[in-house]
Amino acid sequence: MADIDSLREKFLSDINQAENLDQLTSVKVDALGKKGAISSELAKLGQMDADSRKQSGQLINAVKQEITSALAIKQETLAKQALELKLKSEKIDVTLPSRPAPQAKMHPLSRTMEEISAIFADMGFVIAEGPEIETDENNFTALNIPAEHPARQEHDTFYLKPDADGNRPVLRTHTSPVQIRTMRSTSPPIRIIVPGRTYRSDHDATHSPMFHQCEGLVIGPDIHMGHLKATLIDFCRSFFGVDELPVRFRPSYFPFTEPSAEVDIGCSREGGGLKIGAGDDWLEILGSGMVNPRVLENCGYDSTTTQGFAFGMGVERLAMLKYGIPDLRTFYDSDLRWLHHYGFMPHDIAGLHTGIV
Ligand code: PHE
Repeated sequence: MADIDSLREKFLSDINQAENLDQLTSVKVDALGKKGAISSELAKLGQMDADSRKQSGQLINAVKQEITSALAIKQETLAKQALELKLKSEKIDVTLPSRPAPQAKMHPLSRTMEEISAIFADMGFVIAEGPEIETDENNFTALNIPAEHPARQEHDTFYLKPDADGNRPVLRTHTSPVQIRTMRSTSPPIRIIVPGRTYRSDHDATHSPMFHQCEGLVIGPDIHMGHLKATLIDFCRSFFGVDELPVRFRPSYFPFTEPSAEVDIGCSREGGGLKIGAGDDWLEILGSGMVNPRVLENCGYDSTTTQGFAFGMGVERLAMLKYGIPDLRTFYDSDLRWLHHYGFMPHDIAGLHTGIV
């Protein structure tokens, strides 16, 4: 029996000293496992006579009980400790301040192009693009501006080196060549909007040699001036966020549209400040017109059955008017203080009702 007593002592002390669940499991196996010390003692009972079997049996079973419940208690304690340790290591300090606000701001020109695109996308337009280095044909000739046309001088074109055939590529002077590219590569109906960079050799407070335009083109079988007017009135009112904004169509001239109209919006210049949507003064914001039949024919369309309208606007000018930016040159200065003042939060998505504050 001394044997059983010392086993009892040993296992109870092992259980007591176990530092984690793994150690406790191995104590359990050593004591109660198939080949464990207590199990072997129980196995020996079979060889004993009835009296000693009864006596030893009671003793061993009592020790087994004691070890089993000591194991259970220790198991619970260790499991609790393990959980506490885990919770401690995974603790989140909710009192810490949140992540600092992002430093980056979106440039007002990108933002303005997104706003323009969002408004036209809502009307079913898709975005089209073209290269900034254009052929003379796409930038001028196909748009009904032949070599000796006076409009060529007005464009202050940057010409590149002529190719082997003597054709001089140009830095596109407007986004209108994308009209030609689109009409020549797809068939009607067409409804595109073309935001992009354009170039003219001109540099002062109101002109930059690189600037941005946004072109629009709609082609279909029954397109007429009424569609042009409704589309552009809706656009102006959405863009400036003024429901009753006065919009005026003034006769004008562009070689690629006939008739042509410049679009003015109502404003007031009283007291030196410009106020959009009020007063009885006018501000020109875009050029437009019905696509000239010659341009349609240049693109292989039958101008007696297919019509369309086009328009073009200066993105810098629209951004300056909407956001009160007084000097065009500051758009390209890369001055971070300026960007912080005029820039936009990158996650602030442009929509019909956002933008104006
Ligand atoms: N391309 C013209 C410009 O640069 C704008 C325009 C586009 C006018 C389409 C009419 C139609 O001034």
